[in-house]
Amino acid sequence: MARAEKKIVINVKPLTSLKAWKDLKAHAREAAKWNLRTLFADDPKRGERFTAEAVGLFLDYSKNRVTDETLKILFALAEESKLRERTHAMFSGQKINITEKRAVLHVALRAPKGASIVVDGENVVPKVHEVLDRMSAFSDRVRSGEWKGHTGKRIKNVVNIGIGGSDLGPVMAYEALKHYSDRALTFRFVSNVDSTDFAEAVQDLDAAETLFIVSSKTFTTLETMTNAHTARSWLLERLGGDESSIARHFVAVSTNAGEVTKFGIDTANMFGFWDWVGGRYSMDSAIGLSTMLAIGPDGFRAMLDGFHQMDEHFRTAPLEKNLPVLLALLSVWYTDFFDAQTIAILPYEQYLKRFPAYLQQLTMESNGKHVTLKGKEVRYNTSPIYWGEPGTNGQHSFYQLIHQGTRLIPCDFIGFYKTLNPLGAHHDILLANVFAQAEALAFGKTAEQVNAEGTPDWLVPHRVFEGNRPSNTILAEELTPAVLGKLIALYEHCVFTQGVVWQINSFDQWGVELGKALAQKIIPELESASEPQLAHDSSTNHLIGLYRKHKK
Ligand code: F6P
Repeated sequence: MARAEKKIVINVKPLTSLKAWKDLKAHAREAAKWNLRTLFADDPKRGERFTAEAVGLFLDYSKNRVTDETLKILFALAEESKLRERTHAMFSGQKINITEKRAVLHVALRAPKGASIVVDGENVVPKVHEVLDRMSAFSDRVRSGEWKGHTGKRIKNVVNIGIGGSDLGPVMAYEALKHYSDRALTFRFVSNVDSTDFAEAVQDLDAAETLFIVSSKTFTTLETMTNAHTARSWLLERLGGDESSIARHFVAVSTNAGEVTKFGIDTANMFGFWDWVGGRYSMDSAIGLSTMLAIGPDGFRAMLDGFHQMDEHFRTAPLEKNLPVLLALLSVWYTDFFDAQTIAILPYEQYLKRFPAYLQQLTMESNGKHVTLKGKEVRYNTSPIYWGEPGTNGQHSFYQLIHQGTRLIPCDFIGFYKTLNPLGAHHDILLANVFAQAEALAFGKTAEQVNAEGTPDWLVPHRVFEGNRPSNTILAEELTPAVLGKLIALYEHCVFTQGVVWQINSFDQWGVELGKALAQKIIPELESASEPQLAHDSSTNHLIGLYRKHKK
């Protein structure tokens, strides 16, 4: 395996010395002069040609500053970056997460029963299905009322305790699929170590009807363990202190059976996953238990099937028709050749309100890296900042900057042909706004047009829209569990493709460690009854001193 790891790292020349990269540099000097108005005027079929459709997702990428030539060079870049080989390496269970010596196999979480993906000599697919079956049986028991709390009451509330990938996916999926959820159950999500998060989540809940899911890959995360211990005390206080109540009110989702047992949760009530599932790629593992409780096992499996369809599309479709590849290469184009610093994710679907927050961890924890796989400092920008809000709300807030500000912000608009809540003209109005915003960003409004409307000369510059702002539009039939799975997998593979091009490890996150270690050092300094000897910098020492003084 050591040899295989080495091969994965060394078989690509440095990015900036690849022919396609150099070609893109020269090409970008030309592209700087292009305007979407002219690109569209010169090619009346552009809006139909620059589109792709797969597994029920439609992508219009015509409103990007690209020509056929640009795409040709971007595809050449993907080829030279050995995207196909790297994709094969991921799907076949090679340990592409080289700094942690782990396989990266979220695709195995949604592989069909008969599939075989071997890690360290073992086919992992049967293990995945075994856990799924246990999750299904448990979910059925809770949803049917067969699983009772300690006092014999039916479970009505589910509280997921987790953070990062053990929270963002479950929250996002719960919100996204609320339409399909069992409304007899109340779902809450506690992530922040700020006690307000826990206090507010449980303030109106009856402990006798409440099930806690402690979700943590490591089962050592400070925030999650602090909240889990608080939840334990909260429950025991309300149920007469009987420790045996824990078994009826706590289940764990983790890779760490030892720590789960230490906490006091029987491993019979534990749902496992494996080190080859990254936290931010885990919402379709047992980390999705709250999702399954909400929408039921069939809905969860439909979601997995959606993921799998996109996996197969990504793995097999030619680059020119490959949705994740197209999204990724366009983002590389703007990030590295137009100095775009951010990408806005703009879902026109209220149920997707947490989708941008979910994508922030997926994209930025994955590709916020400054060294290559070989440990060399990169000489180009890696992940842009992903951010966003659902439309149309954002239009009345930050879109001003996207339309008329000084920064280039490529946007992904996401919309659906059908709404899950048809009400009068709402959906037509909503979708009209998707199309209008993308149109306005691309084509703007010239000084001549503004003048022709009778605008006084002094006001004209203020009312001009330069246009030439790029966007993608992604459309699907309606938001179902399967479509959600497809959308998430679309961005997962986009992130993977970006990482391959940038030659970075998208699957570790060492950047989160330093702050965690320092916090562990500072906690006793804040708690200590006697005055601690502080040895930080003068600012940190002063802040700690101020806090100690005021908390008294
Ligand atoms: O601090 C970052 C991180 O390690 C994420 O990658 C992860 O999703 C999150 O913390 C939570 O980790 P765990 O599931 O082990 O509690």
